[in-house]
Amino acid sequence: MKAALLLCFLATSWVQSMPADYIGVPDGPAPTQDFPYHRQLDANGDYHTYWLPNKTHVVFEVHARTLGYVGFGLSSNGKMFPADIVIGWVKDGKTYFHDRHSTGHSLPEVDASQDWTLLRGEEYSYGTMLKMVRKLDTCDEEDFQITDDTIRLLYAFHPDDPEDENTIPFHGTKSVGVRSTILLSRIVPPQLPGDVQTRDWLNDNYLVPNKETTYRCKIFDLHDIGKKHHMVKFEPVIQKGHEGIVHHMLVYKCSGIDRKFIGTDYECYLQPNTQLYPCGNVFMGWEYGGGDFYFPETVGMPIGEADDDGLYILETHYNNPEMVPDYVDNSGMRITFTQNLRAHESGLLMTGVTVDPTHIIPPREQNFMTTGFCHRDCLNTGLSEYPEGVNVFAVWQHAHLIAKSVKTRHFREGVELEPLAHEEHFDFNYQDYRYMTKHTTLKMGDELVVECVYETMAKSKVTIGGPATGDEMCLSFIYYWPRMSVDYCRSIPLYNGNNTSGEYVKELTRDYNYNDDDNRRKFHASLVDSTYNATCHGERRTPQIFYAEKTIPVTNQTYTRPRPQCPNL
Ligand SMILES: *[C@@H]1O[C@H](CO)[C@@H](O)[C@H](O)[C@H]1NC(C)=O
Ligand SMILES: *[C@@H]1O[C@H](CO)[C@@H](O)[C@H](O)[C@H]1NC(C)=O
Ligand SMILES: *[C@@H]1O[C@H](CO)[C@@H](O)[C@H](O)[C@H]1NC(C)=O
Ligand SMILES: *[C@@H]1O[C@H](CO)[C@@H](O)[C@H](O)[C@H]1NC(C)=O
Ligand SMILES: *[C@@H]1O[C@H](CO)[C@@H](O)[C@H](O)[C@H]1NC(C)=O
Repeated sequence: MKAALLLCFLATSWVQSMPADYIGVPDGPAPTQDFPYHRQLDANGDYHTYWLPNKTHVVFEVHARTLGYVGFGLSSNGKMFPADIVIGWVKDGKTYFHDRHSTGHSLPEVDASQDWTLLRGEEYSYGTMLKMVRKLDTCDEEDFQITDDTIRLLYAFHPDDPEDENTIPFHGTKSVGVRSTILLSRIVPPQLPGDVQTRDWLNDNYLVPNKETTYRCKIFDLHDIGKKHHMVKFEPVIQKGHEGIVHHMLVYKCSGIDRKFIGTDYECYLQPNTQLYPCGNVFMGWEYGGGDFYFPETVGMPIGEADDDGLYILETHYNNPEMVPDYVDNSGMRITFTQNLRAHESGLLMTGVTVDPTHIIPPREQNFMTTGFCHRDCLNTGLSEYPEGVNVFAVWQHAHLIAKSVKTRHFREGVELEPLAHEEHFDFNYQDYRYMTKHTTLKMGDELVVECVYETMAKSKVTIGGPATGDEMCLSFIYYWPRMSVDYCRSIPLYNGNNTSGEYVKELTRDYNYNDDDNRRKFHASLVDSTYNATCHGERRTPQIFYAEKTIPVTNQTYTRPRPQCPNL
């Protein structure tokens, strides 16, 4: 019992620190076929998962460095129960394998319905391999439904085989853990053409301050590439050992910066020159846990255009809660580009809640939702050039520590379509791109509504919007083609127009007494039917900003995920 508790503790507090892509080691695992996706689940390289999904099933292969038993599981929140678990081993040439589920701190029980099928199990030089298949939705309430959501993969292995199916020994403390992964919304990286070039934008020997949050900015010039190219890939370059402190990086494409600032570095939000503030125009981004970003084979992001001064700001968010004084960092971003222009040009639309201290999240809330939206008046401005609509190919949602879920909803003439992205179990430490697996368009009249749900039960103070890790955000970055003139489309509540002078909002963030139920009711009421300050902003071709008071778009038909294969549910 005590050991099982320890196991769960380890599982939930596991910190990932591995690169996203496995690099083969001489005595590494040998998958039995080509798998498009792979993830090393532990820090030592002793446990690997490969998978191959299609529209109905996933084939998994797990390889663990042991000749004892191997456990593998799926869970929405990373807790050891409830979780969908399989345990298997090979003993005297015979395989043992069961579909199980955990209900408490005890040996996972064997499911009444066995929905994981073992295709192959064997021991070889690396250890033990289990190859298995299951439906995405088995319709068994004891199984986990595999969706686009971020899924926690649980793993465990033990040096010994169990004596029998009912006496499986407790696994040692080092051989158990959990790792977040998007199993389904992925693409197989396309082949890059032979003529690509790369450019690294790095923080050179930067002494990371010994404080929790640092936003460091540095200005780079791309003017010298001389003519228009297409970026086809970007990726993080993380200095070895710094995986834990480089929390995210954003590159902004900002016009109007004096060229004398090229190469300058500074703390982004702690210097007085507003010219050097990161403008809102995000060009690319990477977040802890994320991997490389590939544009589809016929799409590229334009760089080096004639009307472009070629200046970019790299913003690196260092998270140093241990206040380590001597991190010298050289991390940054790498772009890959080609002069052979692709057929289509990509744009990036940033939507959600305007990053501002008036984004208020009260303490002691179980499920507090903040909504931000892209109003049709703004989206239509961009779409007026493209009457057939634009094609979305990837989405990246972003929030901070107290976010539980993030969803980018999509309305068309009042009817809600499938969300562009729905992170039901948001993990601050794993924010990866999500590729569209079906053709998705934005059309004239469409609206986007980004909803973030926050949990603040343990907080005594209000949380506000802002760049620090302890502040919050609620953003959705949408990659699409062809490129529109609108780059960002966001909103922020005005709390019922109360006190446009800002006094009410100031009070709400300072000394408002949220312990008073009456106040709490009043605060909630000021959000219901509130108008929002909606921003529509195009950096490139329509740099003018417009603000307008709007209300949250509504739907008369909400979307529910169909489960046609489960008639009894
Ligand atoms: C999906 O994968 C499963 C398991 O490998 C297979 O049985 C099924 O035929 C596949 N479906 C399609 C449409 O390829
Ligand atoms: C939903 O609203 C749209 C227009 O707002 C209307 O065309 C449609 O018929 C409505 N659908 C339902 C089911 O009420
Ligand atoms: C503005 O807010 C303050 C503090 O909540 C309140 O006392 C005052 O009456 C409000 N004024 C208006 C015009 O709503
Ligand atoms: C202020 O908000 C309250 C709800 O909290 C609402 O009843 C009132 O009409 C609002 N005042 C103004 C001036 O909008
Ligand atoms: C909306 O936001 C802009 C920028 O902060 C500000 O200038 C404007 O006054 C705001 N409008 C309202 C109605 O609060």
